[in-house]
Amino acid sequence: MLKVSNVLELMKNTPLVALRGRAVSKPRARLWAKLEMAMPGQMKDRVAFKMVTDAEASGVLRPGGVIVESSSGTMAEGLARVGCIKGYRVIIVTDPRIDVSTAAKLRALGAEILVVEKYHPTGGWQQSRLERLREVLRNTPGAYWPRQYESPSNPGAYVDQMAGELIEALGGENIAALVASVGSGGSLCGTSTGLKKRFPHIRSIAVDAVGSVQFNQPNSNRLQSGHGNSIIASNIDYRIIDEAHWLSDGEVFNGCRELARREGIFAGGSSGAVYVVASWVAEQFGPDKHVVCLLPDRGDRYGETIYSDEYMEKHHLMGQEAAAGPQRIRYGVDVAERWSYAPLPHDGSVPYHSPDVSLSSDITRELGL
Ligand SMILES: Cc1ncc(COP(=O)(O)O)c(C=O)c1O
Repeated sequence: MLKVSNVLELMKNTPLVALRGRAVSKPRARLWAKLEMAMPGQMKDRVAFKMVTDAEASGVLRPGGVIVESSSGTMAEGLARVGCIKGYRVIIVTDPRIDVSTAAKLRALGAEILVVEKYHPTGGWQQSRLERLREVLRNTPGAYWPRQYESPSNPGAYVDQMAGELIEALGGENIAALVASVGSGGSLCGTSTGLKKRFPHIRSIAVDAVGSVQFNQPNSNRLQSGHGNSIIASNIDYRIIDEAHWLSDGEVFNGCRELARREGIFAGGSSGAVYVVASWVAEQFGPDKHVVCLLPDRGDRYGETIYSDEYMEKHHLMGQEAAAGPQRIRYGVDVAERWSYAPLPHDGSVPYHSPDVSLSSDITRELGL
């Protein structure tokens, strides 16, 4: 039996589970899911732990100090839990979209939650949150802001640790592809960097949302959350990503339901998206290869959305399952409306992202943070 001295020791070594793949897929390579949702606070635990320990080591965070972050999900929970065990005050700036159970969990862990009220006319909730965060930082001398979109500690949490866990679990056998969703880019880019040291030809496959700007697509409204973004996180290292996939809300939510039905894994939206793509990717390789995917969070806080028939019907998402495979589109030229994919242009012929979207580092500069 695993015996640990506190929950911080559970923020790594997540299980690797063999998957059957979707009903419409015929995976030939062995398909594995890394259950990041099995950590006490889900996917960002290992990131929060690394950020805080790096900040302690560099002296940015002092004993009994204050951690301030803008988040409404897994990052907030990771920081709240690490702060609770290590004795830091944690302030989370969020917006009215935060769900009841996440807010309750954060409060239970001792975090203070500040909910912004005004939607910023150009920068939306993201900008409103950053402006409030700036205020808090100004009024709290010595406070530490982890900045998951920019901090090297975010991908740094994956480079050696996650890649090492995967290589060890598969006995050093060949991993042909890694499939992961992208929000800050930390998990895909950090893990790819680590795995590429051992398997230089591994394919690094990004899963994004239709309507997200991360891979040179126009911004549009979407219901899926966790992955996808309306700004570009500086932690997305485009040079190491081989291929991007985009999925619509209906494809993602129905993918979650299929993941639960076929594999017994009750997970959040990004896991459903990853499941659809990884099942197909595993068809592209032979039986002597492994395809690994990362499943970020549990399904509990999506009971009133992804797992509610009423919600699905209201948004006309019932029956919108992903096809057996994606359609190929031209990167930066065609607009994805349903499951599509494109290889990333590494010859500079097409920009990775459109020039008129802000980078996370621009926002922090603009706000003088
Ligand atoms: C539920 C969920 N899925 C996926 C992601 C994307 O992961 P990353 O930030 O490592 O790109 C996040 C990021 O916050 C998330 O919370």
